[in-house]
Amino acid sequence: MSKPRDKKKVKFTGSDSEGGITSSYAMDDGVKLKVPYSFMGSIYDEQEEVAVLRAMKQDSLTMGPQVKLFQKEFAAQHQVKHAFAVSNCTTGMHLCTQLFQIKPGDEVIVTPNTFVATSLVILKENAIPVYVDIDPRTFNIDPKKIEAKITPRTKAIYVVHYGGLMCDMDPIMAIAKKHKLFVLEDCAHAPNAEYKGRKAGSIGDVGVFSFHSLKNMTTCGEGGMITTNRDEWVEPIEALRCMNLDHYKPGQTRWEYSGGIVMEKKTKYDYWIPSHFDVKDVAGYWGNNYRMNEIQAAVGRVQVRKLDMLTDKRIEIGRAISEGIRGIKGITPTYEPKGYRHVYHLYTVCVEEEELGATRDDFMRILYAEEGVQGIQHYQPTYHFTGLRKLGITANCPRAEAFFYKRETNLPMHPRLTPQNVRDMIAGIRNAAEKARKGHRVK
Ligand SMILES: Cc1ncc(COP(=O)(O)O)c(C=O)c1O
Repeated sequence: MSKPRDKKKVKFTGSDSEGGITSSYAMDDGVKLKVPYSFMGSIYDEQEEVAVLRAMKQDSLTMGPQVKLFQKEFAAQHQVKHAFAVSNCTTGMHLCTQLFQIKPGDEVIVTPNTFVATSLVILKENAIPVYVDIDPRTFNIDPKKIEAKITPRTKAIYVVHYGGLMCDMDPIMAIAKKHKLFVLEDCAHAPNAEYKGRKAGSIGDVGVFSFHSLKNMTTCGEGGMITTNRDEWVEPIEALRCMNLDHYKPGQTRWEYSGGIVMEKKTKYDYWIPSHFDVKDVAGYWGNNYRMNEIQAAVGRVQVRKLDMLTDKRIEIGRAISEGIRGIKGITPTYEPKGYRHVYHLYTVCVEEEELGATRDDFMRILYAEEGVQGIQHYQPTYHFTGLRKLGITANCPRAEAFFYKRETNLPMHPRLTPQNVRDMIAGIRNAAEKARKGHRVK
């Protein structure tokens, strides 16, 4: 028998977070923050609390009535035929990678400016992410650069609507059609976003949303949704989400197993027969438990009802910041092109180092230490991560590299920001730019 460990002797070396994603960037450095970065992207009130308590009293706590209604309401909100609630966006994108039958050695075109999840789901199937550089104004994949990266092994294009601004989908869909490729929209940042009047998640073959704590709407910190207009994918998506189960269809009375065994409903009292199921592979793929529970779905339903209000608040805040910082030499506000509904998951400020006469990091130090505004960067180009380099995956995306290492910072952005927070951010950016231009540096 092993000796019980003396707790006092166990040295804790990790961060305060579980699993590596911090819940705040609070530092012990004496800085008095006026606007801290927040890891809660939505607004919860009594409506979510009531929904949680009601759902907890149900008989079924997973994949029950709340999930069904959440899917229906989310699909209607996003103008798409089908929606499937999943445990998170990563599992949803993995399921879709299996659905597309992406095999070892296949290639998937993807943006480097995204959370690692978008590439992870490709790597999990031993396929190869092929990175295409971003547009320097939208920070989204540049459609003009996609075709040059297509080879006979390319199977799909995974796009990300970075920060809440949708990609230029028409040319992307045209390229996909020409080369017979699947398109996955990573909509983690983009609930309610629009492109030429069409919603995120309704244009590609599938869309996948995240309801993680810091997203525009959230289902108790984790959650996701797959959307599609393709009827023929309803069954395989449901099977891959839940253990490859193949259920009785309404009205079905007979089930013949491949071993020749037949289960047949002979009287109206044979309740156990339709409750049974078979298990089938989906084109050779074995599924998962990627389900969502009823409590999350109940919260999700309230969040769908609030989504227009939550989105309007973000847009109002985003536009107020842009107005307040427009015209500062060397500082570029977030770009909101015509024909798009930017939902401001992120507010991205870019420093143009030559115009400002200072580096992005010089600017950020002043903004943080002297102006009390805490910005952070998203995203390090995925191909720079050690794990991908070990696999020999490289890319040449100078715009994505300049964006992450030299230009961007994302301001605190959520719908609970107050008018004073917004004024503090605008003043902070103006002051930090002015000080940096005059050669002031934080040591
Ligand atoms: C662009 C993008 N894709 C995917 C994900 C993964 O989402 P989830 O945490 O729900 O798996 C995130 C989450 O941060 C994201 O920002």
